[in-house]
Amino acid sequence: MSEGKLSGRVAIITGGGGGFGKGIAETFLKQGAKVIIADFVEDVGQKTASELKCEFVRADVTKKADWEKILKFADEKFGKIDTVVNNAGTTYRNKPTNDVTDEDFDKVFSVNVKSIYYSANVIVPYLQKKGNGGSFVTIASTAGLRPRGGLTWYNASKAAVINATKSMAVEYASEKIRFNNVCPVVGLNTGLSDLFLGKPENEAKFMATVPMGRGSTPADVGNACAFLASEESSFLTGIDIPVDGGRCV
Ligand SMILES: NC(=O)c1ccc[n+]([C@@H]2O[C@H](COP(=O)([O-])OP(=O)(O)OC[C@H]3O[C@@H](n4cnc5c(N)ncnc54)[C@H](O)[C@@H]3O)[C@@H](O)[C@H]2O)c1
Repeated sequence: MSEGKLSGRVAIITGGGGGFGKGIAETFLKQGAKVIIADFVEDVGQKTASELKCEFVRADVTKKADWEKILKFADEKFGKIDTVVNNAGTTYRNKPTNDVTDEDFDKVFSVNVKSIYYSANVIVPYLQKKGNGGSFVTIASTAGLRPRGGLTWYNASKAAVINATKSMAVEYASEKIRFNNVCPVVGLNTGLSDLFLGKPENEAKFMATVPMGRGSTPADVGNACAFLASEESSFLTGIDIPVDGGRCV
C-alpha cells in the first residue's frame, strides 16, 4: 500500500511475532510502512511475517550481535531505517516482591532494559551517518508511570526505559532522532496479560480500575506507535503516551 501516514518508511518492530508487536506491524503496514519483524521465536515470527507480508529477522534483542544483524538486514534490503519500535518485553508472574528470584530480576532487566541500550547503541550511529533523523518508540507500560505492588521489578524496568527515552530525546534532538514511549495498560489477551494479572479472577477487579472499562488492544497500541513514527509527531520527543482508557489520571 503506498498511501498512509507511514508511506515509504522503514520500521523495525521487535517482538513482532505476536501480541502487541503483531498489532503494531499490522497497523504500520496498513499505513504504508515497510516492516521488519525481529523476534527470537523463529517459527512464530516467520509465520506472522508471511501472514502479514513483511520481512522477518530472527533476533534476540538482549544480544548486541543480533541488533547488528537487524541493522545489516534493513540496510541491505531497504537502504535506510526510519523507526525502531522496541516492543519485545517480558515479566514474571505477579507475586510478592520478596518472592522474586535473581533469575526473574535479571530476565526483566535484560529483555526490557538492556535491549533498549543495544537498540540505541547499534542504530543511532547508523541514523547519524545517514543524517535524516529517525524515531524510536519504546513500549513501556502504565506500570512505569503509576506502579502498583506485586510487579516491583517489572515496574522498575519500565520506569528505567521511560527515563532513558527522555535522556536520549534531549541528547539527540538536534539531529532529529526522536525517542518516545507508549505506555499501555494491561492488554486484552496478549501473551503477558495473564502474568500481569496473576490470577484469572483478578481480571474483572483490575478492569474496574480503568475508567473506560477495558484493557488495551494491539490496534490501540499500534495506532499510538504509528503516530509517533509519522511526520504528524515530528515536534514531539521525550513524551509518554498512556494507552490506558484513563487509568493513569
Ligand atoms: N500485555 C500487557 O498487558 C502489557 C501491558 C503493558 C505493556 N506491555 C508491554 O508490551 C510489550 C509486548 O507485550 P505482549 O503482551 O504483546 O507480549 P507477548 O508475549 O504477546 O509478545 C512478546 C513478543 O516478544 C518476543 N520476545 C520476547 N523476548 C524477546 C527477545 N529477547 N528477543 C526478541 N523477541 C523477544 C516474543 O517471542 C513475542 O513474540 C512488552 O514490552 C510488554 O512489557 C504489555
